[in-house]
Amino acid sequence: MRAAAKVNLHLGVGAAREDGFHPLTTVYQAVGLCDDVTAHPADDLTLTLTTTDWIDAGAVPVDGDNLVHRAAVLLGRHHGRELTGRVEVEKAIPVAGGLAGGSADGAAALVALDRLHDLRTTDDALLAIAAELGSDVPFALVGGTALGTGRGELVEPVSDVGTWWWVIVPSRQGLSTPEVYRHFDRLRPDAPETPPGADVLLGALRTGQPVSLARALHNDLQEPAVDLRPELGLLIDRGESEGALRGIVSGSGPTVVFLCESADHARDLAGALMRTGQEVVLVANGAVAGAHLVPSHV
Ligand code: C5P
Repeated sequence: MRAAAKVNLHLGVGAAREDGFHPLTTVYQAVGLCDDVTAHPADDLTLTLTTTDWIDAGAVPVDGDNLVHRAAVLLGRHHGRELTGRVEVEKAIPVAGGLAGGSADGAAALVALDRLHDLRTTDDALLAIAAELGSDVPFALVGGTALGTGRGELVEPVSDVGTWWWVIVPSRQGLSTPEVYRHFDRLRPDAPETPPGADVLLGALRTGQPVSLARALHNDLQEPAVDLRPELGLLIDRGESEGALRGIVSGSGPTVVFLCESADHARDLAGALMRTGQEVVLVANGAVAGAHLVPSHV
């Protein structure tokens, strides 16, 4: 199974609920930066991990905390049995980056184990288990471009007529999502109960025009993320002065994504950022599919 990273085109955050989660109005887009998850028959449940060279494998939990493990446990519980498998994760999505890489792995593992054991889990059950795994996991199943509400787990596809080109700049050091939300609470004690709506962004998506989308991008977690990591603000300024239509922190960060006019523009910007000393600069487009089966590796 292949599962994509996400960027949040709009991330409106309200005041924390009683359960500690924040109500969100968000627009997710799946972009072509993917992890691959393969489930092989085995007598017990094990996880193996390979990473591309820009990812610190040591930062990925491979024990019971890993979303792949938790996916196997929750899917097994749903079917009243224990699931086994040797699950291989090949990571290209930066860890703790605000790109929902762990969620992508969890979503891919759910579908991979469902297929391996021929469980025929219904879509509704998969979405419910995904929501239990994490707020971003249902979107990782659905993919495309979608509106997320609740704590992000309630997703519905939205109309998106464009092809959007992104330059993605991960940071070497990840950021903890709970820490960024806690900092949001400190900086925004006046946050509204109802998060800012996404109408402007949804309207921009329907134009298909990168300049309109650039103007509409919005992330309430950007301020706390940049306050925790001031270098992200400098990176956004640098990308915009090198010609990006707009730079924005992805989700809770620290990854910064730059919207570009076209594939050529994205490649030019990536080159320019690398010449300024940025080590890892990726180019991807959206929207792409959610977790899906791919023919075995070539
Ligand atoms: O749902 P998920 O496991 O991805 O959330 C990780 C953490 O991020 C939560 O424990 C919470 O601290 C924070 N979070 C939040 N509001 C959300 C989503 C996540 O406060 N809507």
